[in-house]
Amino acid sequence: MEVVLLADARQVARLAADTIEATVAAKPQAVLGLATGSTPLPTYQELIRRHRAGLGPSYDQVRCFTLDEYVGLPPGHQQSYRATIARELTDPLGIPPDRVHGPDPSPEGLASAGERYEQELTAAGGVDIQVLGIGTDGHLAFNEPGSALTSLTRLKTLTAETRQANARFFGSVAAVPRHVLTQGLGTILRARHLLLLATGAAKADAVAAAVEGPLSASCPASVLQLHRHVSVLVDEEAAAGLARREHYREVYAAKPCWQGL
Ligand code: GLP
Repeated sequence: MEVVLLADARQVARLAADTIEATVAAKPQAVLGLATGSTPLPTYQELIRRHRAGLGPSYDQVRCFTLDEYVGLPPGHQQSYRATIARELTDPLGIPPDRVHGPDPSPEGLASAGERYEQELTAAGGVDIQVLGIGTDGHLAFNEPGSALTSLTRLKTLTAETRQANARFFGSVAAVPRHVLTQGLGTILRARHLLLLATGAAKADAVAAAVEGPLSASCPASVLQLHRHVSVLVDEEAAAGLARREHYREVYAAKPCWQGL
């Protein structure tokens, strides 16, 4: 695991955008794993800015897979993750909707939705780079504490903490769906490169537990310790709980420039 400490959210966004662009430049048919939540938004805005300026790679051949989706929202709801990712990233990059995949929350297919999504991911050849945020309780995608470390895409019930945290998108806690479909921790581990972004003081405890705490289902993001290619990009506030932060700084400063993330 490589931990990169950066001054602020803007620098996190720049380095994350560089890394995503490098993946697409090296493999025009790359499969991008996309997270929602507010943390990746500056990264997505940076990618869009560069694309509009004619600076980014071509996204003509990429395919995208979202991590998770709410269950129970009317089709096309603005806070569905399908609508969110289209609005915040894929539409502005010119990636057509048929190249953007997400778990299918329609009620009639719910029992098989997880398995079908796993099949879609496998048929696409797997995710090349997976953008991840982290919940204040250490959740990854919607894998709440207690999620099996080998889990695959499935229906989950949100904790009260996560519904409270996401109430800002819905106007009230009561309006936040109780159920979701989410890639499992085992699904996420299959991606070839994991890019975890965390900014702000509210994430400091979760980042410390994920990076330096024990491997435990009680902190789902600690599963990242099992993956061979993880980049954790944190701003100073989110890094505040890391005991080894001076070491991470030294390692990154001494990194050969050809190595990339
Ligand atoms: C949400 C999403 C996660 C996201 C996390 C943190 O509930 N399902 O994918 O990483 O919570 O969100 P934010 O970045 O807004 O803090």
